Amino acid sequence: ARLPPEVNRVIYVRNLPFSISSEEMYELFGKYGAIRQIRIGNTKETRGTAYIVYEDIYDAKQAADHLSGFNVQNRYLIVLYYNPSRQNKKSNLKDQEEKLRAMQEKHGVDGEQHA
Ligand code: ADE
Repeated sequence: ARLPPEVNRVIYVRNLPFSISSEEMYELFGKYGAIRQIRIGNTKETRGTAYIVYEDIYDAKQAADHLSGFNVQNRYLIVLYYNPSRQNKKSNLKDQEEKLRAMQEKHGVDGEQHA
């Protein structure tokens, strides 16, 4: 059977409770098949999100079909397929360096000694 092109072995989940544990994640998402890896967001920008990598693309689809809108601790999960072009680029090194340079300029940090 063929699958739509957006279907992926990796799903991207939003609106997770900040307090959800790795064990709870494996219990919930593991119901749909073997999981290769789960990465739970742990920064200010990524908290409440996770990437779940399934071994099998059909299991990822089952999870997406069943868990989109699923209620967890009074929150409704948003489940999308991983799309690299939509990944938050703020976490990469070049952007961090650019951010730092802009902050240094704004606040007058230039490496010179000040009396
Ligand atoms: N960031 C926002 N949407 C995304 C998606 N579908 N996949 C990966 N990262 C995302």
